[in-house]
Amino acid sequence: MAKQSEKPAKKLKIGIIGTGGIANAHLKSYLRLAEAGHVEIVGGSDIVPGKARKFFDNAGLTHVKAFDNNKDLLALELDGVSICTYNTTHAECTIAALEAGAHVLCEKPMSVTLDDAILMYRKSQETGKILTIGFQPRYDPNMDLVRDIVRSGVLGDVYYIQTGGGRRRGIPGGTFIRKELSGVGALADIGCYSLDMVLSAIGYPKPLTVSAFACDHFGKNPKYCGEAEHFTVDDFSVALIRLEGNIALDFRMSWAMHMDKMGDTMFFGTDAGLKIKPAGVGTPWGGAWDGTIGPITMYNDIEGQLCETNIPLRRPSDDRFYSKVKAFCDAITTGDTAPIPIIESIYNQAIVDGIYRSSQLGREVEIVLPTL
Ligand SMILES: NC(=O)c1ccc[n+]([C@@H]2O[C@H](COP(=O)([O-])OP(=O)(O)OC[C@H]3O[C@@H](n4cnc5c(N)ncnc54)[C@H](O)[C@@H]3O)[C@@H](O)[C@H]2O)c1
Repeated sequence: MAKQSEKPAKKLKIGIIGTGGIANAHLKSYLRLAEAGHVEIVGGSDIVPGKARKFFDNAGLTHVKAFDNNKDLLALELDGVSICTYNTTHAECTIAALEAGAHVLCEKPMSVTLDDAILMYRKSQETGKILTIGFQPRYDPNMDLVRDIVRSGVLGDVYYIQTGGGRRRGIPGGTFIRKELSGVGALADIGCYSLDMVLSAIGYPKPLTVSAFACDHFGKNPKYCGEAEHFTVDDFSVALIRLEGNIALDFRMSWAMHMDKMGDTMFFGTDAGLKIKPAGVGTPWGGAWDGTIGPITMYNDIEGQLCETNIPLRRPSDDRFYSKVKAFCDAITTGDTAPIPIIESIYNQAIVDGIYRSSQLGREVEIVLPTL
């Protein structure tokens, strides 16, 4: 309990840019923090006229300011801003918010291209403001469990990782399938999560090269996609990525396929292997690794006997999405660094960018990163 002489902590002034689908999850989390007296939701904006107003009114927040442009919102001297726009506008909105002096929680994927990710990073460095990307699976205790197992050294040297997943039927619609809005399809939508899981477990080594293949057979077919005429992104991609430290990363992702799954996530080590099944297998959207961890098994030898150990899962103590928003607010309040180091999100984006370029060119490409 706060002592009477202690001043209550200043409430953070929060704004939301882009009031579409995922903005609801941000709002819900900020409302929880507002109830606890930590934040005040000051305003929001959307380029669709009237959309931000409707968004807040629907939530009963008629007093919250709503704008049809970001400039007026950012003039409110906000402490923190959630960027919830579609992927192709993440960079411009993030940069504008940082320039206005706000800390930024930007939705995943970081951007569409590596170049944009670098611009976002440089702006956060220049302004000294936090920039963090919204990978809520990071706040799943079982993601920590995977990382703890891998980092404990029990696997020995990890030399090969397989990750990704695939929905049997799970093509989204709206802004997700139009290249001019999302930039990339299944690869960046859910692929960035599985990349984040395995790369954070091994300490995010630098990506070096990518050889990838992508296609769009289901998205372009009206039999499988209700908005086939608008479908201009990938619905399937596979890639072999070389990582610093002599590690091969085998990545697979799809929104639709005639198969139950594209494999589990697996770490091959010199002393043991780890298999992580995705949660939710068996539903039409199952088989995907959308960020939720299923059963974990370790494979090793004990006294020459081949052993398999099922590792019990940890029980989540809170909602992952709320935890990600809270971590952002806590970092602003305490003056801490970004909850997810931005370099990690840049490496994630560099791989997405590399997969996209390689599949377009039909050959292996190098990942060239400037000094950061
Ligand atoms: N973390 C998660 O679980 C999760 C889930 C779904 C979506 N997402 C991510 O969130 C982002 C948005 O997805 P969504 O489903 O909410 O999309 P959406 O299309 O429903 O909403 C995006 C909104 O942003 C607005 N917008 C676009 N450009 C803008 C700009 N320059 N200024 C202001 N508003 C702008 C659009 O008008 C729209 O209302 C995407 O990057 C997506 O990958 C994350």
